[in-house]
Amino acid sequence: MTPVSPPNETGRQSVLEARGISMSYGAVRALSNVDLSLYPGEVLGLVGDNGAGKTTLVKCLSGVHRPDSGEILVDGTVRDSLNAEQMRSLGVETVYQNLSLVDTLDVMQNFFLNRELLYRNPVARALGLLNKRQMYRATTERLRELELAVEARRSIAAVSGGQRQMIAVARAISWGNHIVMLDEPAAALGVRQSLQVLTFIRSMAERGVAVLFISHNMQHVLQVTDRIVVLRRGEKVGDLKTADASAQQIVTLITGSDLVVAGKDTKV
Ligand SMILES: Nc1ncnc2c1ncn2[C@@H]1O[C@H](COP(=O)(O)OP(=O)(O)OP(=O)(O)O)[C@@H](O)[C@H]1O
Ligand SMILES: [Mg+2]
Repeated sequence: MTPVSPPNETGRQSVLEARGISMSYGAVRALSNVDLSLYPGEVLGLVGDNGAGKTTLVKCLSGVHRPDSGEILVDGTVRDSLNAEQMRSLGVETVYQNLSLVDTLDVMQNFFLNRELLYRNPVARALGLLNKRQMYRATTERLRELELAVEARRSIAAVSGGQRQMIAVARAISWGNHIVMLDEPAAALGVRQSLQVLTFIRSMAERGVAVLFISHNMQHVLQVTDRIVVLRRGEKVGDLKTADASAQQIVTLITGSDLVVAGKDTKV
């Protein structure tokens, strides 16, 4: 039996937890003894300078990387040796910084990647025939909701950087019903699309989904998160409630010095 961790002092059980995670790439120490807990219905911001270890931590939590030491728990159960596919089957949905879209496939095929719809008809099902009409309809509907002017059959290689990002986010939002991690989901987006992504993030949390959100945009972080964890050079240096935090305080934690915050749109 794998051990199940007790709920914390607030009585809540974390859905995803990192305990004492350390990881190096050769001589580069990317994470040192990092703890992080994510709870249902909350948006947790993960911030830090370039190279602070945010992506590495997300990849440890999603099963892409195996940390050198420490434990990963899903719903209170230690799940150390699972790969990304197995973590996904436990409900851990991730939008990676490099998006992981397949250039040789079209929008619809990317949308349904590894979740292709089969026909109900047992013969067609046995032959592995895909229900392309239904996948097309569902993808087109999603694109319309997102106000994305892209045809479902267009090759992913032929859509803009921002549209690619929206498609990757839309995929995670559509399938994510437990835990969703977004590594800089709005980095390539315009103002309207960024706001749309923030709105989706809040509505996911309201449905009870636990969301981890990485961003360098302080305004976005302060606007959408309930709690913020700060990494500096691979170490966790802050874990604070957003309601109690100021941009200045977070920038100080990120940089380790009292830089003056230029304005509310500050990017760090
Ligand atoms: N594949 C890799 N091989 C070697 N070193 C790596 C690799 N990926 C990341 N690193 C190093 O590990 C450290 C943490 O990188 P990571 O990508 O986790 O940072 P990050 O906080 O996501 O940064 P950013 O904000 O720029 O995305 C950095 O020093 C980085 O150079
Ligand atoms: Mg990163």
